[in-house]
Amino acid sequence: MLKKVIGAIRSWLQKYSITTTINKFDEKLDHTSWKGAEFYPNYFQPFALVPPSNYSSQGTYRQIKIDDKLGEVAANITEDFKDKLVSLLGDNVRLDDIYLFWYDPEKRTEWSLSNSWHDDNVGHRIKIFVCFEGNGTTPTVVIPNSFNKPYKMRNSEYKRFLGGRDVDAIQDEIKLAYKAGDIALFDTACLHRGLYEEPAAVRAVLVMEYIDRNKANIIAGKSPCGPGMSRTGKVIFEEGAYNSLKATGLMDDQLIKKVNNEYVYSLIHLNN
Ligand SMILES: [Fe+2]
Repeated sequence: MLKKVIGAIRSWLQKYSITTTINKFDEKLDHTSWKGAEFYPNYFQPFALVPPSNYSSQGTYRQIKIDDKLGEVAANITEDFKDKLVSLLGDNVRLDDIYLFWYDPEKRTEWSLSNSWHDDNVGHRIKIFVCFEGNGTTPTVVIPNSFNKPYKMRNSEYKRFLGGRDVDAIQDEIKLAYKAGDIALFDTACLHRGLYEEPAAVRAVLVMEYIDRNKANIIAGKSPCGPGMSRTGKVIFEEGAYNSLKATGLMDDQLIKKVNNEYVYSLIHLNN
């Protein structure tokens, strides 16, 4: 328990320390014309994926390798939403992270932190969920326009990091009940949560995250952003995937390094 309390305090202090930085970037952005969540059924043609062989205790698995086929889907969707991403997040928006995220309710032995209402403590950022496998029973729910302006951390974060669950339904929540072939996007500054407790089925989503690159370069490590969610994390692109995504103009060249036939995307490469 003591370890948990110390961890919660450290996490809170780290997130508190970046409040001014997040505000500095976010005060220029106008999100009033968008409710913060959108759903597009039957948007793309999903194909079969190879399921992971091991899961975390939360029933999840995060695949950081993006092969050519996934890269092509990611690039097409990025292209479709590029204007919206730039208008909401500014000219310095980049594809900040991308991963294939699996959830298998039968592998879960503890609840994920993202099961409780939260924002991601990074200010305005847009996540696109591209659903390859799932029947709609593991939705993400979002409360429209619930971002703090000016940005500040929510008091409920204390409780969440100490393991308290807050999963009550809220009246105007939007349920993004994506199934295979659907896509959904939302602003992670709005309150949201993964509805993992419903009679859930196996779910596989390609997650793409977009944020102002200068903001992310500063706050990564203190809040979950940057490739692989940290200063040392990474995404690995096959060559075709990299080329498709580079053509969208939303990749950050400063984070890329070619290693053998693959492209490693990481904050480690910044300023090198
Ligand atoms: Fe989240």
